[in-house]
Amino acid sequence: MRVQLSATLTILSLTLNTVSSVGLSVLEGSPVTLITTQHDKREDILNIKWFYNQTANVVYYVPTTPNEKVADLFKGRVEFNKTDFSLTLKNPQRSDSGLYTAVVETLNKGAEAATSYELSVLAPVVAPTLTVVSNWSSSDSCNVTLKCTGLNVSLISSCNGTFCSQEGGDRFLSIAFNHTIVSCNHSNPVSWRQTTMELEPLCPSYEADVAPPAGISPCLLKALLLSVGLIVMVTAVITVHISYKLQKTK
Ligand SMILES: *[C@@H]1O[C@H](CO)[C@@H](O)[C@H](O)[C@H]1NC(C)=O
Ligand SMILES: *[C@@H]1O[C@H](CO)[C@@H](O)[C@H](O)[C@H]1NC(C)=O
Ligand SMILES: *[C@@H]1O[C@H](CO)[C@@H](O)[C@H](O)[C@H]1NC(C)=O
Ligand SMILES: *[C@@H]1O[C@H](CO)[C@@H](O)[C@H](O)[C@H]1NC(C)=O
Ligand SMILES: *[C@@H]1O[C@H](CO)[C@@H](O)[C@H](O)[C@H]1NC(C)=O
Ligand SMILES: *[C@@H]1O[C@H](CO)[C@@H](O)[C@H](O)[C@H]1NC(C)=O
Ligand SMILES: *[C@@H]1O[C@H](CO)[C@@H](O)[C@H](O)[C@H]1NC(C)=O
Ligand SMILES: *[C@@H]1O[C@H](CO)[C@@H](O)[C@H](O)[C@H]1NC(C)=O
Repeated sequence: MRVQLSATLTILSLTLNTVSSVGLSVLEGSPVTLITTQHDKREDILNIKWFYNQTANVVYYVPTTPNEKVADLFKGRVEFNKTDFSLTLKNPQRSDSGLYTAVVETLNKGAEAATSYELSVLAPVVAPTLTVVSNWSSSDSCNVTLKCTGLNVSLISSCNGTFCSQEGGDRFLSIAFNHTIVSCNHSNPVSWRQTTMELEPLCPSYEADVAPPAGISPCLLKALLLSVGLIVMVTAVITVHISYKLQKTK
């Protein structure tokens, strides 16, 4: 038994070098299928194994026999496809994270790693917390400093009503500003959550800056002035023309 195991390990360490592993992140509880690509003829294949962390056999299958063998650790939790040799984890848990390698043994080539995955099973990210560190405002400006905190990372943001700066954070924690709403987005490779905050109550001057002063917008005012100007000019031209004609007929 011990001899057999060490033989397996030797074969693995020899063959695992020939294939590089693919990183794969999935949400815990969401089924994931690990597919394998190999180009050997079915009748040449002696057996297929899926390894976990290079030592534990998840599945062992001999194509000339009806059923695959599944390790106790994975019984009831995986599905092996005898047609394409893919392995499905039906309800992956965080503890299932690790290296999954398909090893195919053929008559002429021996055992060879066909496919390898570095699987990360992740919990959904928690919503970040957004708090006010300081707030200050006058009639024509404001300065609100916010702190957004994720699981192990945080950022500081200073907002002046039209712009929010960001200090800290990383690609998994960032802040965005939309008109009057500040939102902090916390993510991991498989999920994201965001927390938002109204900036307006903390930054009243913002409204005065952006909103038009009266009912008429500056754009409308411009258009109105332009039309009046045009009418006056056209009228002047016509008047001159008519009076010229009248003078001529006299
Ligand atoms: C096994 O894989 C084959 C080919 O990809 C597919 O047609 C079949 O539906 C799969 N079987 C199961 C039980 O998923
Ligand atoms: C498998 O390997 C991963 C790291 O690659 C490790 O986090 C995990 O604990 C290992 N699992 C077992 C059961 O050895
Ligand atoms: C903003 O500042 C005012 C005056 O300093 C203070 O009363 C208020 O509690 C602050 N608001 C928040 C949300 O911290
Ligand atoms: C806003 O307040 C923060 C913290 O008090 C300060 O670091 C920053 O320089 C201020 N920004 C402006 C534009 O006054
Ligand atoms: C935070 O945790 C995640 C997952 O555990 C890790 O990938 C990331 O590098 C960590 N970030 C920092 C800044 O420590
Ligand atoms: C807010 O800060 C940005 C960038 O520093 C600046 O361009 C903008 O004029 C500022 N707005 C106000 C109302 O202070
Ligand atoms: C700004 O945020 C609000 C509320 O989240 C949303 O309804 C609106 O569509 C957003 N506007 C833009 C321009 O993104
Ligand atoms: C939050 O960040 C994630 C990852 O970068 C992105 O997929 C998602 O669309 C973002 N959500 C919003 C509302 O911007």
